[in-house]
Amino acid sequence: MSEIVKRINLSLVGAGLLCAFGVQSVNAGELERTLEYRQGLMNVFSWNMKAMGAMMKGKQPYDAAAFARHADDLAKAASLDILAGFPEDSDKGETDALPDIWLDFEGFTAKLETLREASQKLSEVAAKGDKKAMGEALGKTGKACKGCHESFKN
Ligand code: HEC
Repeated sequence: MSEIVKRINLSLVGAGLLCAFGVQSVNAGELERTLEYRQGLMNVFSWNMKAMGAMMKGKQPYDAAAFARHADDLAKAASLDILAGFPEDSDKGETDALPDIWLDFEGFTAKLETLREASQKLSEVAAKGDKKAMGEALGKTGKACKGCHESFKN
């Protein structure tokens, strides 16, 4: 058998296996990983925001060092390659991401930048331990989350 015929045969076998397992698209696995990555990042954001919010509202005992740690983790998480989780044509599957992200990628990137700046500022303020200033910076960071969700999330 020539090399090319072998390859065609192999890909037919591959396609047959994919059908047998009910996989519709060869990229489905990649898409799922991508969604997990970006939703995972969002959950890291949320983990830290909730902890800081609970302390500011008195639902959890206020602990300046723990707050500063959360603020630092949030700023670090926001500085990761978030956009790698939003490749084109990833508006499919189990996602709340709106197609508008890819129609206005510049706008989406700008919202991410706003979060990066706000969370960076929050971590700087938190390191100094002024509770009032921390509350204000936390509020701004929360607005940066909402600002993006309002335009780009279901
Ligand atoms: C640049 C835009 C943007 C910013 C900024 C942003 N988000 Fe999101 N967020 C999204 C999008 C888009 C989704 C939907 C992702 C999906 O379902 O694939 C999402 C989803 C989520 C989810 C649901 C995740 C899941 O498991 O489905 C949570 C929780 C969340 N964001 C929290 C936050 C918090 C907290 C912040 C601020 C610290 C934040 N987000 C900032 C765009 C953003």
